[in-house]
Amino acid sequence: METLRTFPLNAWYAAAWSHEVGKREPLARTVCNKKMVLWRKSDSTVAALEDVCWHRLAPLSLGWLEKDNVVCRYHGLAFDGKGQCTHMPSQDKLNPQAKVHAYPVVERFRYIWVWPGDPALADPALLPDMQWNDDPAWEGDGKTMFAKCNYRLFVDNLMDLTHESFVHATSIGNKHVAEQPMTTTHSGRTVTSTRWMTDVDAPPFWRAQLGKLGNVDRWQIIRFEAPCTVVLDVGVAPTGTGAPQGDRSKGVNGRVLNTITPETETSCMYFWTLLRNYNLRDQSHTNQLREANAGIFLEDQVVVEAQQRAILENPHMPLRNLNIDAGSMRARKIVDEMIASEQRTVAA
Ligand code: FES
Ligand SMILES: [Fe+2]
Repeated sequence: METLRTFPLNAWYAAAWSHEVGKREPLARTVCNKKMVLWRKSDSTVAALEDVCWHRLAPLSLGWLEKDNVVCRYHGLAFDGKGQCTHMPSQDKLNPQAKVHAYPVVERFRYIWVWPGDPALADPALLPDMQWNDDPAWEGDGKTMFAKCNYRLFVDNLMDLTHESFVHATSIGNKHVAEQPMTTTHSGRTVTSTRWMTDVDAPPFWRAQLGKLGNVDRWQIIRFEAPCTVVLDVGVAPTGTGAPQGDRSKGVNGRVLNTITPETETSCMYFWTLLRNYNLRDQSHTNQLREANAGIFLEDQVVVEAQQRAILENPHMPLRNLNIDAGSMRARKIVDEMIASEQRTVAA
C-alpha cells in the first residue's frame, strides 16, 4: 500500500532555473521526495538521474562531471545521462545492470522541468503554460523561495488574493480586494478566478507603476494549472478608459508566474517571475520590481510556514472553507483526482 501523498508523480515539475544547471558541477535537487542530480551535457541538453550511486549508494551529486558523465566521488563509477554506468575502477568489463534511473527532462520557459513518475507518460505537451517567460513583449525577473511547507498551502495562497488586504496591507493590498467577490470557473486541469474592482483607489504599488493619481479599475485574473502552477494576470487602468470592456491600453499590466514544486510533504521550491509589458528594456525597473515582489512574497512565506507548523501541531483540526476558498478547493479537487487515478493504476 502506497503511503498518502499530496502530489501526483505523473506531471512536470520545475527543478531549477535554466541558468542554475551548468556543465561544470552537478546540482542536487529534491522533487516529490525523489533526490535527483542534474547537469548540462556538451550538447546543452540537461540530464537528471536519481541521486544515488548503483555501487554503495553514495549521492552522485557529491561527485564531479567528466565529459558528459557524472562521476561518483566515492569509488569513481561514471554514469551517462541515461543513467548507464560507463566506467568502473580496476575492471574492463562493465556490469550491464549497473544503471540508475534517468528522469525525463525538458527545458522551457527559463526552467528545467523533470517528470518524477512513469517516463512513458512524460509528454512535453503537458507542460504548464508559462509562455510569458519566453515572450519578448514581456520583461521581468524572479527568484526561488525554499519554503518549509506543503506546496498546496502556496497554491491556496495564490488562488485567493483576499489575503492581500491583510498580509500585504502596505504594498498591493487595500480594503477593496477583500470587499469584492470573485467568480470562479474550471475546465480540465485548470481553474480560473476573476476579480474586478472598478472605480477604486489604487494601492501604493500600483499607483507608483501607473504614475497617476485618481481612481482605477483593477483586475486580478488567477489561472491555476494542475498540479502546482498559478499565473496571475494583474493590473490597473484609470477608471473610465475601458479596461473592464477589454481595452487595457491606458493601464499597466503585470503577469506573475508561479510554479511551486513539492520537495517533500512539508517543503517546497517556489519559483516565481514578475513580468510587465510596459517600460521594457529598463533593467533598473526590472530589478526594482523583482526586489519589491520578493519582499511581498516573503510576507506570504512567513504566514504560510507558520500555518504549516500549526497544521502539524493540530492534526485533529481540519482546514475549513469559506466563499473565498472556491478556487483553491477546486484546485485541490483536481490534484486529488490526479493522485487517486495514479494510485488506481498502480493497484490495478
Ligand atoms: S559508491 Fe559510488 S562508486 Fe562506490
Ligand atoms: Fe501574497
